[in-house]
Amino acid sequence: MNILLVGSGGREHALAWKIAQSPLVTRLVASPGNPGMAQICECAPHKPTEVAGLVQLARDMAADLVVIGPEVAIAAGLADALEAAQIPCFGPTAAAGRLESSKAFTKAFAERHHLPTARYRICQDRDAAHAALADFQPPYVVKADGLAAGKGVVIAEDRAAAEAAIDDAFSGGFGEAGQVIVLEEFLEGEIGSLFALSDGATSKLFGGVQDHKRAFDGEQGPNTGGMGTYSPAPVFTDQLVAQTDERLVKPAFRAIAEEGAPYRGVLFVELMATRDGPKLVEFNARFGDPECQVLMLRLESDLVPYLMACATGRLAETPEPVWRDEAAVCVVLAARGYPGAPEAGSVIRGAEQDFGPHVQVFHAGTARGEDGQLRAAGGRVLNVCATGRDLAEAREHAYGAVAAIDWPEGFHRTDIGWRALSR
Ligand code: AMP
Ligand code: GLY
Repeated sequence: MNILLVGSGGREHALAWKIAQSPLVTRLVASPGNPGMAQICECAPHKPTEVAGLVQLARDMAADLVVIGPEVAIAAGLADALEAAQIPCFGPTAAAGRLESSKAFTKAFAERHHLPTARYRICQDRDAAHAALADFQPPYVVKADGLAAGKGVVIAEDRAAAEAAIDDAFSGGFGEAGQVIVLEEFLEGEIGSLFALSDGATSKLFGGVQDHKRAFDGEQGPNTGGMGTYSPAPVFTDQLVAQTDERLVKPAFRAIAEEGAPYRGVLFVELMATRDGPKLVEFNARFGDPECQVLMLRLESDLVPYLMACATGRLAETPEPVWRDEAAVCVVLAARGYPGAPEAGSVIRGAEQDFGPHVQVFHAGTARGEDGQLRAAGGRVLNVCATGRDLAEAREHAYGAVAAIDWPEGFHRTDIGWRALSR
C-alpha cells in the first residue's frame, strides 16, 4: 500500500513510526513531515491546508490511503476533496469535523442529542459575555469558539479575572478563534482522553490517556496543547469506559451520521470523570497530540488495517486492537516562552542518539539547519516517550533520556504521571 500522511508534529511522527512498521506498507510519504520523520519516510512540501496540492500528491503517488493528522486539514476540507477524488481517507469531512472546529456547534449538538456536558452560554460580544457571567459561579470557564491549538481556554478564579479573559478574547488574545466565546459551568473531577474509531456506521474504542495541560509542574501556569501524557490512565476504570461509550461515543457517532455527516476517523473525547459519571469537555476530530504518541507505543496490533477500515467502511471486520501490557509516558520538551511566544532557533544536542529499546524521541517542532544541526522551530519541540513494565519504570526511562538531551533553551515538566502515581 501507498500511504500519504498529512502533518508535521509529534503526533504525525508517532503515526509515521507505527505505520512504517506495517508489512502492508510499500511507500509512506509525509507532507510536510519534519526532520524526525525524514529519517523514516519521504517528505513532501505541502502544508496541511494546501488541499489541492495534497490531493494532487495523493493522485501522483497512487495513494491507497491518506491519513490526516491535524485538525486544520480537516477544517480546510481535505477529507471532502479526497472523497470527491475517490481516494480513501482517514479523517472526517469538514462537516463532521465541526465537532471540534466549533465549540458552539458542539455544545448545541450535545444539547440536541442529550450528551452529558457542562451548562454553557455562547457570547458574541464583550458586553453580553460580561453580563452572562452572572449565570455562573466561580471558577469561571472562558473558551474561544474556534481552533486555538488547545490554548483557547482560561479557568478564572474570580469575576475580575473572567472579565479580563473575556476582554482579552475580544481584543484578539485568542486570535480569530476568540471572536465568539463560550462560557461554561466548571466541572469538578478528573480529566481523561478516550479515543474511538469510526467508519461512519461502526465504532471501536481505541485507548485511554491522561494529558497534562498546564505548562508547569503541579498543574500551574497557562493551558497548553499538552505537556505530557501517559497510558494506561487509572481514571479509566472499566465502568467509566463503558459509560463513556454508551453516553458519549456511540450517541455522538449515531447523531452526526443522522445529521448527514457520517464520521470516518478517530474521535477524541475529552471528558471529566465527575460524581455523576463522564461529562463531555470537548470533542476533537483527530488523535490527540501528545496522546497519540503513547497510544502508538502501546499498540501491539498493526495500525494500518484500522486506518484503512475506517476510511472504507469495514471497521466491523477488524478484531479488537491489542495493547501491550506496558505503560507508556511522553514528556514534552518545549521552547522557553511556550505557550506564549516561544524562542526559535536554539540548537538541540543529543536528541538523536540511540536511547535503547524503551525510548522513542518524536520530533514536534524541529528544523535541521544547513549545518546539519537540529534546532527548535516551534512551541512544543520534542516528545521524549518511553515504555516500562509500569508507569514508574516508563517514567524513569523517559526522564533518563530527557537528562541526556542538551538543550538549555528548553523546559519540561518533571511530574508527568503524578496523579496516577499518587493514587
Ligand atoms: P479544552 O481546550 O476544552 O480541552 O480545555 C482545556 C482544559 O481546561 C481541560 O483539559 C480542562 O482541564 C479544563 N476545562 C475545560 N473545560 C472545563 C470545564 N467545563 N470545567 C472544568 N475544567 C475545564
Ligand atoms: N493534547 C490535547 C490535544 O491534542 O488537543
